[in-house]
Amino acid sequence: MTVQTVIVLAAGEGTRMKSAKAKVLHGVAGRSLLGHVLYAVDQLNAQEIRVVVGSGRESVEAHISQIAPLATTVFQEHRGGTGHAAQLALAGTNAQGTILVLAGDTPMLTGQSLAAFIDAHNAGKFTASVLTAEHPDPTGYGRIIRDESNELLKIVEEKDASDDQKFVFEINSGVYAFDGAALTASIGKLTNANAQGELYLTDVIGILKSEGASVAAIMIDDFTEILGVNDRVQLAESAALLRDRINDHWMREGVTIIDPTTTWIDATASISNDVTIHPGSAIYGTTTIAAGAVIGPRTTLTNCQVKEGAAVLESIATDTVIGEGSTVGPFTYLRAGTVLGDLTKAGAFVEMKNASVGSGSKVPHLSYVGDATIGEGSNIGAATIFVNYDGVDKHHTTIGDHVRIGSDTMLVAPLTVGDGAYTAAGSVITEDVPAGAIGVGRAKQRNVLGWVLRKRAGSKSALAAEAKNKKG
Ligand code: UD1
Ligand code: CA
Repeated sequence: MTVQTVIVLAAGEGTRMKSAKAKVLHGVAGRSLLGHVLYAVDQLNAQEIRVVVGSGRESVEAHISQIAPLATTVFQEHRGGTGHAAQLALAGTNAQGTILVLAGDTPMLTGQSLAAFIDAHNAGKFTASVLTAEHPDPTGYGRIIRDESNELLKIVEEKDASDDQKFVFEINSGVYAFDGAALTASIGKLTNANAQGELYLTDVIGILKSEGASVAAIMIDDFTEILGVNDRVQLAESAALLRDRINDHWMREGVTIIDPTTTWIDATASISNDVTIHPGSAIYGTTTIAAGAVIGPRTTLTNCQVKEGAAVLESIATDTVIGEGSTVGPFTYLRAGTVLGDLTKAGAFVEMKNASVGSGSKVPHLSYVGDATIGEGSNIGAATIFVNYDGVDKHHTTIGDHVRIGSDTMLVAPLTVGDGAYTAAGSVITEDVPAGAIGVGRAKQRNVLGWVLRKRAGSKSALAAEAKNKKG
């Protein structure tokens, strides 16, 4: 399979999205629409990739430089149609060999299908080929018009189609392969004599055919691959189809997904075999999950690394490492920079941020751990707060190995609690606690006898106390 130049058309306004954001920047399954297309194109090893940008130019160009730095962009100032966009892209190429043209709004296309299409085009020595599919609802797509001998004649847009032509179910995917020289020679012949007053790239097929060139319609079996996204309904449809495709892939790789319809895994995530994912979970970004881990239900992981055998129940984690055999949740919120060592615990209603927890250490209940380093084998008692913010700056707390922090301790940073130290429950700790010491930072308790009997005379509490006093 060889392709010299790939042209991606992505300058359209995406009017039907009704969005402040350029259409091709809308995302599904962890990539932008354009990102999916460029990912598929990347597998073709083309000499040159040119993306035509227009609407939302600055943000689209910035995005392209991040995800496909080798691609170049061509600016289409006024939307003159797909033919006009292709003309601009061609102007800067030497137009030799095979040129692939496709749209930036077809996120389902795979590199494999594009490669097979180019192979078929090159093998047939066609001057132009168009990728087509039978679509159960062809509304809105260009129709493939064939002659009596079933050969490709031309493409007619929905808005220009006769009633008979609208009954054609074979549609234009917007993916074409051309002989570069022939495309350059014919693209100048386009006119805008059509319902939309635009230059249609689709008309190149009819022009070449009328000049006697060999043109081919190459059909793909799975029509869902060529779905274009023009509005938010189609955005959701393609997201659901990609979800199913991704889930099917991981299940075939040995991942148990209890409810594939409520499990959303980005195309960029990676999951090992014998992982179990419970319903309502989302695995986003560059998250990796190692063998034997159990995720969910209702868990969202973004750019996380979950190591072997860890369990994350009903929680949210971002930019977090979860060590081997560790347990997280339920209702735990792990923010950027959390690193849990092996066999650790971040339990119910615990929030962490920029915190590293040494192996075997536990934060079991109701705590906030921010800007902290916790050593190995330590236990942070229920409702402990790492007081990291003085209202102006953030400060760090260091906890040693085998420390026991009593329940409801306020650890006022900057602070160090040495190895093997304790803090008394309910303490506000503002000074370092040396290794082996117990830090006690609270008022001594005093009991005011008979207070309830005097101040709350006649109350249920007072009556209960009196009854007890009588019994002795
Ligand atoms: C186009 C095809 C249609 C096909 C469908 C497949 C034409 C005339 N029609 O229709 O036959 O069935 O795709 O999805 O080509 N673009 C530009 N500059 C422009 C106009 C469009 O760069 O001036 C880009 C858009 O950003 C988009 C792509 O070209 O990525 C297709 O344009 P769009 O308006 O979505 O065309 P469709 O109406 O979907
Ligand atoms: Ca489209």
